[in-house]
Amino acid sequence: MAIRIVRAETGLKEAAEILREGGIVAFPTETVYGLGANALNTEAVARIYAAKGRPSTNPIIVHVADIASARALASEWSDTAESLATRFWPGPLTLVVPKAASVADIVTAGGSTVGIRIPNHPIALQLLQQAGVPLAAPSANRSEEVSPTTAQHVADSLGGYVDHLLILDGGPCSVGIESTVIDVTGTVPRVLRPGMAMIAEAEAIRNRPTANPKTHRSPGQMARHYAPTTPLVLVQSSDLPGSIRQGSAVLLFGDCRRREASWRNVLRLAHSYISMPESPQEYAALLYAAFRQIDQQGKAVTDIVLELPPDDPEWTAIHDRLHRAATKKGTQE
Ligand code: TXA
Ligand code: MG
Repeated sequence: MAIRIVRAETGLKEAAEILREGGIVAFPTETVYGLGANALNTEAVARIYAAKGRPSTNPIIVHVADIASARALASEWSDTAESLATRFWPGPLTLVVPKAASVADIVTAGGSTVGIRIPNHPIALQLLQQAGVPLAAPSANRSEEVSPTTAQHVADSLGGYVDHLLILDGGPCSVGIESTVIDVTGTVPRVLRPGMAMIAEAEAIRNRPTANPKTHRSPGQMARHYAPTTPLVLVQSSDLPGSIRQGSAVLLFGDCRRREASWRNVLRLAHSYISMPESPQEYAALLYAAFRQIDQQGKAVTDIVLELPPDDPEWTAIHDRLHRAATKKGTQE
């Protein structure tokens, strides 16, 4: 069997062995599933790029079990890095720091910095401990696709592209979207990718000369990313009725049953609809699974019409993913 999904506790020992021998393993984290390899082994990391079809210009995050291991991967560890790490690790926060010589160039896409995080997931932490090496791990999906939040998503995404792969099944991811990435190499921290670690973002940017929360660009990152196969259209609530066609799969903001009857009549026109939660945490946890569910509904579905959540700061990371997912293929940021 090329792809094996194994209950995480049962598969840990074998997974650690595969990683020590230079292989790749998919494992759960609190954000999304990762595709891991020994970050100190160039050939092992090359297997990740091949399985994902990832451009070699896009650097990979390294996962470690403790702060001492993180410091060992950095040539410089600033006070800002130390204070963010002690406050928010383990957690959905990646810190970009100057890299140590031991980190393979392939991990950093030839750059002088490395992204590091301690994931807040018991299986990921046990795997790191048992493997005894730092693990380079991007999300365990083909490049540009929606990140996987269950073991089955990983199998669906990578199944056709790897000879064999062990997937540790730790159930659905609790956070559901990728970590916040903060570059702490300069005097002023920069948010490269917003995530659900919002307090960390706020703290990191508090010292900025201007309070501009604009996200900066990560090397190699495409504007289109995290995208479902079905075309995605983002609409404000007021434009929703006029946007729905017969083949539309609708992602509603909030519970449909609380809407007036006229709304429900409009929805009846659609192919299907999903009521999304009104809390950003629950919304993030379900978003990618909803995209995948719609992609599996077949050719009758012509588009996804998504009713936008509020424009409040706590929705920033979700808006970021939604706008990337709605960007047309091949668009460079
Ligand atoms: O939540 C996550 O971060 C998940 C789990 C598996 O930990 N990983 C993940 O990895 O999302 P990936 O490779 O799909 O996204 C990594 C992001 C990319 O946007 C990449 O450009 C950026 O982090 N990145 C990695 N290393 C970097 C570096 N040295 N400098 C700037 N950006 C970096
Ligand atoms: Mg990814």
